[in-house]
Amino acid sequence: MSKLNIEVKKVTDSRIAEVDFENLSFGEEFSDHQFEIRYDNGAWQTPRILPYDAVPMYPAISTIHYGQAVFEGMKAFRYRGDKANIFRVDMHYDRFVRSCKRVCIPEIPREYFIEGLKTLIDLERDWIPEAKYKSLYIRPIVFAADQTLGLRSSKTYRLHIICSPVGNYYAEGIKPIRLTTMPEYVRAVKGGVGDAKVPGNYAASLEPTIKAQQQGYTQVLWLDAIERKYVEEVGSMNIFFLIGDTLVTPPINGSILPGVTRNSVLEIAKAEGMKVEERPVSIDELIEASRNGDLKEIFGSGTAAVISPVGSINHEGQHITVSTTSDEMGPVARRFYDQITGIHHGEIPDEYSWCTVI
Ligand SMILES: Cc1ncc(COP(=O)(O)O)c(C=O)c1O
Repeated sequence: MSKLNIEVKKVTDSRIAEVDFENLSFGEEFSDHQFEIRYDNGAWQTPRILPYDAVPMYPAISTIHYGQAVFEGMKAFRYRGDKANIFRVDMHYDRFVRSCKRVCIPEIPREYFIEGLKTLIDLERDWIPEAKYKSLYIRPIVFAADQTLGLRSSKTYRLHIICSPVGNYYAEGIKPIRLTTMPEYVRAVKGGVGDAKVPGNYAASLEPTIKAQQQGYTQVLWLDAIERKYVEEVGSMNIFFLIGDTLVTPPINGSILPGVTRNSVLEIAKAEGMKVEERPVSIDELIEASRNGDLKEIFGSGTAAVISPVGSINHEGQHITVSTTSDEMGPVARRFYDQITGIHHGEIPDEYSWCTVI
């Protein structure tokens, strides 16, 4: 199917029969094949599809010292039975190259990335779980491959795309999560790398996240790094508030990750004629809206969970709660969840051209 010259080496025995598709946890199982392309001698070389296997490396490989690497997270879904749908591949590609630019990794041509991915997913289509809400998580990763302790941009890179079948994020039911701010920590500052999908952002979030979890919260709600007053995002999700009848979310300002799901929610909301505001939201505004009953819903958006309801936020002992507190997703969040998952699986027409069906 590919216009590109991709070398394909298939496995002799698939491991698929060993996988328990009924009980998948996130990112623990990997499909049979991986896509690989090397950047050597100033150019991207012939793309290859190989059996999923170890990547041998020397301890001096520069990526593990200085973190010159970028990744993405996207999904393929079962589409109307036996077809596969890669969701919003163009937007993920665009974010991937923007992230690469920020850490001096050469741009992979669009057709290499997209054709390579389509060929891989075509080969791995049996690995896409059949049940609704399950999917094949796709993880592209590119990293510096020079052996050097010199702090400089690498001259060689390796790009891999691997796939992992993942379960319904809501195996236990759709329960609202509890967030807390951690004003003593910040995730990112404008001018840094918060808007790029680079591994170090996630390493830096581990300590505060563990502390939040020890205090009984699911995730940290990050505040801005300067005033520690404006809401930014959650661990791997962007955040939305329904205040009165207006859907409000922090703007893409250089320190938060421009989420693909965030964009999908905004597009749907605008198409439905909802009032939408992308603007700074202070924690004080949320405390006030919670007190006077105007804060109707809070939810996170991200590829892994799609839409995740938030029941409460702790900020230095003050509790922000939604007025429609219940054990379920609020009606507005539910509408977005149903729309997006319906488009994923081809049950709702793809009016936005978000699906790459193969
Ligand atoms: C820090 C961060 N924010 C937001 C998101 C949500 O982005 P997306 O909807 O593209 O998955 C993610 C996940 O990729 C993330 O890691």
